[in-house]
Amino acid sequence: MSVQLSHPAPPFNPKAEAMLSAIGGFPISDRQLFLAGYSELCRVDLTDRHAVEICGASGKLAAAVARTFPGARVTGLDLWAPSGPEPEEWKCTLPGLELIVGDAFDLSAFPAESVDLVWGQAALHHLSHDLDTLCREVTRILKPGGRLVFVFEPMGHNLAVAAIRAMRMAVHEMGDESNLYISQFKRMSAFFSTCEVQMFNLLGYPVKALSDRFGGISHLVHELDARLFGMFPRLLRYGANANVILTK
Ligand SMILES: C[S@@+](CC[C@H](N)C(=O)[O-])C[C@H]1O[C@@H](n2cnc3c(N)ncnc32)[C@H](O)[C@@H]1O
Repeated sequence: MSVQLSHPAPPFNPKAEAMLSAIGGFPISDRQLFLAGYSELCRVDLTDRHAVEICGASGKLAAAVARTFPGARVTGLDLWAPSGPEPEEWKCTLPGLELIVGDAFDLSAFPAESVDLVWGQAALHHLSHDLDTLCREVTRILKPGGRLVFVFEPMGHNLAVAAIRAMRMAVHEMGDESNLYISQFKRMSAFFSTCEVQMFNLLGYPVKALSDRFGGISHLVHELDARLFGMFPRLLRYGANANVILTK
């Protein structure tokens, strides 16, 4: 199965805008990536459907999806139980939302072909050591035509980006932060019928610190990235961050 690389441009789904505002705290330089990724989460009306977030941590994004689709069943799963006042509040305000403790590699809590959407944010690079098990589990629980979406994943083809990330990981002593490669998406695509990868941040990543400080620069860099990707599609693989959309 081939992997389709693209660089999506605005306009994005207004529901995605609302989700972004509900969560907040995104660096301005990554706004387009999140809007494109959340547009994928909203692509299908999830009313009366079941969506599962893996590696969801606090459950904030799962809560935003549950708020966007009040008629959906939304399950957020992470190795650790969420803590703090928000999950308690969501129990009263978001009846479609459940946050559970579990392992993304063991989705036995979900019956076969029972789920319409599985997604993760900043998640796949924590699971890339066993992609076969992950894909086997996800395709087992997805209904035919169901989708697996990953938002905001780091890519390793761009040596400048890889070097900057390696420095950041060393400074902040970040373990478990591997980069991803298109060959891994190819491997995953064997389990699915389509695989689309949305690439972002070609020049955007090296100037991230600057563009987060000065919003106008972020806009210019996005424009420049879009032009370069348009003129030279081979550059798509060198984007620093990706959203991945797989359809069963
Ligand atoms: C970088 S955080 C991302 C959290 C959240 N999705 C976000 O965007 O803020 C990665 C999360 O993946 C979870 N995680 C790592 N391996 C996991 C696994 N095998 N099953 C479930 N969750 C896992 C971690 O506990 C952590 O909460």
